[in-house]
Amino acid sequence: MRHLMSPLDFTVEELDQLMDLAADIEKHPSKYAHACEGKKLATLFYEPSTRTRLSHEAAMLNLGGQVLGFSSADSSSAAKGESVADTIRMISCYADICAIRHPKEGAPMVAAMHSSIPVINAGDGGHQHPTQTLTDLLTIRSLKGHLDHLTIGICGDLKFGRTVHSLINALVRYPGIRFLLISPEELRLPGYVREDFLEKNRIPYEEVVSLDEAIPKLDLLYMTRVQKERFFNEEDYVRMKDFYILDREKMQAAPKDMLVLHPLPRVNEISVEVDDDPRAVYFRQVQYGVYIRMALILTLLEVQVC
Ligand code: NCD
Repeated sequence: MRHLMSPLDFTVEELDQLMDLAADIEKHPSKYAHACEGKKLATLFYEPSTRTRLSHEAAMLNLGGQVLGFSSADSSSAAKGESVADTIRMISCYADICAIRHPKEGAPMVAAMHSSIPVINAGDGGHQHPTQTLTDLLTIRSLKGHLDHLTIGICGDLKFGRTVHSLINALVRYPGIRFLLISPEELRLPGYVREDFLEKNRIPYEEVVSLDEAIPKLDLLYMTRVQKERFFNEEDYVRMKDFYILDREKMQAAPKDMLVLHPLPRVNEISVEVDDDPRAVYFRQVQYGVYIRMALILTLLEVQVC
């Protein structure tokens, strides 16, 4: 039985197969409409979410399966003190696969250790968010045509942003990748991401503060929100929250074919006037998120569709 804890749980070849399957789902959705009939997905969300929970649920419903779950720790037995290990033992009796989001790093791994069904990490604290990364990779591959030889700017909260950590972890396996890491000094990448993912793999990268200086050099700009819920004090958050605002003027300095991605939710970091720019693909990214999660559910449940 397989789980998804980190994007590295799939080899580059397996990721290609997963994205090929997602591309086929995009082209022929009706072929997959009954593939998971009789199967259930449980969503265990101990932290707020809109997209990740609903897109896992939409993915299972699109496959003809059913969904059950909870969307906050308060409404589950976690509020009574139940452990993740006990919860997952029970959920294994109710469902065939589950997606779990938890504020504690490593909680989905604990769930996987005690589970008899496949477990998907839907975000664990400031650590990893592998299904967002699968979404990002499919978006880049579909709209750029390739995942190698790209200069990628990642901008915003690189310290707490789990989508950033997972994306870097996944992209270092493709040749010719370089990163411009754009953040205030206080929100730079954690040391382990720099050392274990970038330096160990000899990936060229630069840490810069100015978005204006970086933008003309980029093939892709991955914007992120300042992660309010992971700050220790409100004052620091208020100081950082509007550090970057991507607006029409900044986009004028960007290459004509530079794509703007964002895992969403957006707060202020992308002005709404950018939404109509054809290079802004963050809402298309959401649709790719459903296709790749459909492909992931089929793969983890070992369902073949001919
Ligand atoms: C991200 C997350 O939860 O880490 N959201 C998402 O799942 N698309 C990004 C964020 O909350 O900023």
